[in-house]
Amino acid sequence: MSTTHSRSLGSLHGRVTLVTGGAQGIGFATAAECARRGSAIAVIDLNEENARRAAQALARRFGVECTSGAADVADADAVRAAIAAGEKALGGIDVLVNCAGIMTPRLAPVTDTPVADVQAMFDIHVRGAYLCSQAVIPGMAARGFGRIVNISSVLGLLGLPNRSGYAIAKHAINGFTRSLAVEVGRLGITVNAVAPGYILTETLQARLDAGMLDYRTYAERAPAGRWGLPEEVGHAIAFLALPASGFINGVILPVDGGFTMRGDPGEDIGEAPGVERLAPVRALFASGRETSP
Ligand SMILES: NC(=O)c1ccc[n+]([C@@H]2O[C@H](COP(=O)([O-])OP(=O)(O)OC[C@H]3O[C@@H](n4cnc5c(N)ncnc54)[C@H](O)[C@@H]3O)[C@@H](O)[C@H]2O)c1
Repeated sequence: MSTTHSRSLGSLHGRVTLVTGGAQGIGFATAAECARRGSAIAVIDLNEENARRAAQALARRFGVECTSGAADVADADAVRAAIAAGEKALGGIDVLVNCAGIMTPRLAPVTDTPVADVQAMFDIHVRGAYLCSQAVIPGMAARGFGRIVNISSVLGLLGLPNRSGYAIAKHAINGFTRSLAVEVGRLGITVNAVAPGYILTETLQARLDAGMLDYRTYAERAPAGRWGLPEEVGHAIAFLALPASGFINGVILPVDGGFTMRGDPGEDIGEAPGVERLAPVRALFASGRETSP
């Protein structure tokens, strides 16, 4: 399965990748892309059954070793146990993708948002990425190689109303990424983040179906004129995970179709096409890259 890639700079052959939140969405698409490049995969997720199904699907499709474990990434003991079990099964973690996360459950202004909701956002995204990084860095340092990729968001780069907890967490992820990148750079470890724009995961599709979000509103703002697919984010993350990407460190990489670099106040750049514009992108990623377990 990995013969083409094992000799190329695009290979993750012989590596072990741990993806938190890897049971679905961007996490699963990332795990699939790393598996396609030959990496063994450990999936850690809150949802034990989905994590197990994801690991089984990856092993079947890509012929790589896979394992799964259940843990809340904000729970220090559970994280330590799940990562230790993953390392026991597959070997030391070379690549950590901190993808576990949740969307803002209820849009509300600061004055109506319970601080507990903000704390919950912080715990899952920031405390989670912090704890998982703490657990893998000693092994990476001992082996002189490591890749940590965090998941920020366009909301980690811009201000949008009514999503303060999520924005706080994602801005904090950027600070953590940069600070850690400097701290461990001499150890052969890189720490980067991707900042996805609006990505058509099952979770956001459900919000579109429920009328909580409007596809066209966000597609219009992005110069690409569309949302992204989970595979496009997985592709960027896998690139940052490669041994050949070792001179890229501390970067927050937008994967957003230009959403965050657009500076005009809504000038006419042509109408965004409908959701059918995603068809050729889906086709590009279709072969062997199914996005759900
Ligand atoms: N979908 C988007 O448009 C988008 C945009 C920007 C950033 N992101 C970020 O990407 C990441 C993945 O988002 P997604 O859309 O793929 O989400 P998703 O809902 O499809 O998947 C998230 C996964 O994380 C798991 N999870 C949630 N809380 C957890 C916890 N405490 N411990 C362990 N696992 C947990 C869930 O069980 C699920 O399998 C999140 O950090 C999210 O903030 C998503």
